[in-house]
Amino acid sequence: MSMPHLPPLVLPITTRRLIIRDYTLADVNAVYSYVQDPAYWQYQSAEAPTAAQVESLLQWVVSDQASKPRRMHFLAAVRKDTGQIIGEAVIKVVNIAERQGEIGFGVSPKFWKQGFGSEIAGAALEAAFQHFKLHRVAGQCGPDNKGSIRVMQKLGMAREGLLRDVHHARGRWWSTLIYGILDQEYAKFKNLKKT
Ligand SMILES: CC(C)(COP(=O)(O)OP(=O)(O)OC[C@H]1O[C@@H](n2cnc3c(N)ncnc32)[C@H](O)[C@@H]1OP(=O)(O)O)[C@@H](O)C(=O)NCCC(=O)NCCS
Repeated sequence: MSMPHLPPLVLPITTRRLIIRDYTLADVNAVYSYVQDPAYWQYQSAEAPTAAQVESLLQWVVSDQASKPRRMHFLAAVRKDTGQIIGEAVIKVVNIAERQGEIGFGVSPKFWKQGFGSEIAGAALEAAFQHFKLHRVAGQCGPDNKGSIRVMQKLGMAREGLLRDVHHARGRWWSTLIYGILDQEYAKFKNLKKT
C-alpha cells in the first residue's frame, strides 16, 4: 500500500491540440482575461477574481512548483496552433500513501463546447493513473454544471455523491457533486474505448 516516492510529473503534457505546461508569472494577464468572465463562475461558489488575486494565485502556484514531493499541479492548457492559454488542468495527489487524487479543469468560455474540456480532463486523468499510479481519482462540480458532469462521465467517472449546501457564498448555499473512478475501472474503460 505504501508509496513513499512520488515521481515528478514530466511536463509539458502534449495532447491532440494542446500543450499542458507549468504556469509562469508572465501568464497573469492571459489567465485574468478569461477568469474575469462571470460565465466561468456560474456554477462555482467562488467569484470572478481581480487581476491582483490572479497574480497572487500564480505566485503561489509558481512557488509551489518547487515542492518536493510535488503533489499539486495547477497547469496551463495552451493551444498548439495559436499559443493562447485557453484553460487549465489540475492534478492533485491528495494522499501519497493511499494513492488518492483529484483532477480539475476549466476552459475559457470563448472556447466552450469544442472538446477542450474533455481533452484537458482526459490528460489530467491519464497522468493521475499512468504517471502517479493512483488508486482513486475524484472530481467535483456544482450539480447544475452540465458541461463538467458530461466531461467526467465521458471519462468513465461515476457519480459518488452530492454534498448538500457545503458552502455559503454570494448570498446562497452551494452543493457539490463528487465524481470518482478507480484504477481498475479506468483500465477497463480505456480498453473498451480501444475496441
Ligand atoms: C466544464 C467545462 C470545462 C467544459 O468545457 P468544454 O470545453 O465546453 O467541454 P467539452 O467541449 O469537452 O464538452 C464535453 C461535453 O459536455 C457538453 N457540454 C459542455 N458544456 C455544456 C453545457 N453548458 N450544457 C450541456 N452540455 C455541455 C458538450 O456538448 C460535450 O458533450 P458531448 O461530447 O456528448 O457532445 C467548461 O464549461 C468550464 O470551464 N466551466 C467553468 C469552470 C468549471 O466549471 N470547471 C469544472 C468544475 S469546477
